[in-house]
Amino acid sequence: MKVKQAEFVISAVGPGQYPEDALPEIALAGRSNVGKSSLINRLISRKNLARTSSQPGKTQTLNYYRINDFFYFVDVPGYGYAKVSRTERAAWGRFIEQYLVGREPLRRVMLIIDVRHPPTKDDQAMYDWLRHHDLPIVVIATKADKIPRSQWQKHVKIVRETLGMPKGDPLVLFSSETGQGLEELWALLDESVDWNEGETLENPQE
Ligand code: GTP
Ligand code: MG
Repeated sequence: MKVKQAEFVISAVGPGQYPEDALPEIALAGRSNVGKSSLINRLISRKNLARTSSQPGKTQTLNYYRINDFFYFVDVPGYGYAKVSRTERAAWGRFIEQYLVGREPLRRVMLIIDVRHPPTKDDQAMYDWLRHHDLPIVVIATKADKIPRSQWQKHVKIVRETLGMPKGDPLVLFSSETGQGLEELWALLDESVDWNEGETLENPQE
């Protein structure tokens, strides 16, 4: 997939601000600081279009990035950030849930997991919730560069088992640092996302 054009569109704080052009949307969900924004930057080969930080809880809005005038990546605020108050967390939950359940153009949710550690209780709850709502999920086990290659398969197995993923459900081992998994992920999105009629990522109609 050649990303010819990638632009930040809006930091939405409510449904009134979501784009109205009906382009397909691919959302990125995951724990705070797990590497969602870094993954977007790697996918679109930009250093810092999606804001990243070592300070968790930075992204608090739904951030829309339009790619090739063809679809959106939607960077969803991270969950599980301890310093957020209970009231804020409840508000966050409602906002995200409404988006994920009610958003018609949403075609896929990438659930980003840190491959170094077993999925947390929050990760498990998120995965169960997404499945409960029949959302099409691809699990991305990221930060692969942080563990030795000899341990990749063991860690991937722990991620699959802890989440209770059905056999054959997609999981991509990834690294935003090295670009590992990039082509596999693009290919998976291309074939599995329900793009607008007659179109594919490789062959979008002009
Ligand atoms: P929030 O917006 O706070 O929810 O965080 P986020 O999930 O968007 O994480 P972000 O992309 O900002 O990354 C958090 C930190 O992890 C940054 O310091 C990144 O450089 C680092 N990071 C992300 N992905 C990788 C990766 O694949 N490998 C390595 N080594 N570091 C990574
Ligand atoms: Mg972020």
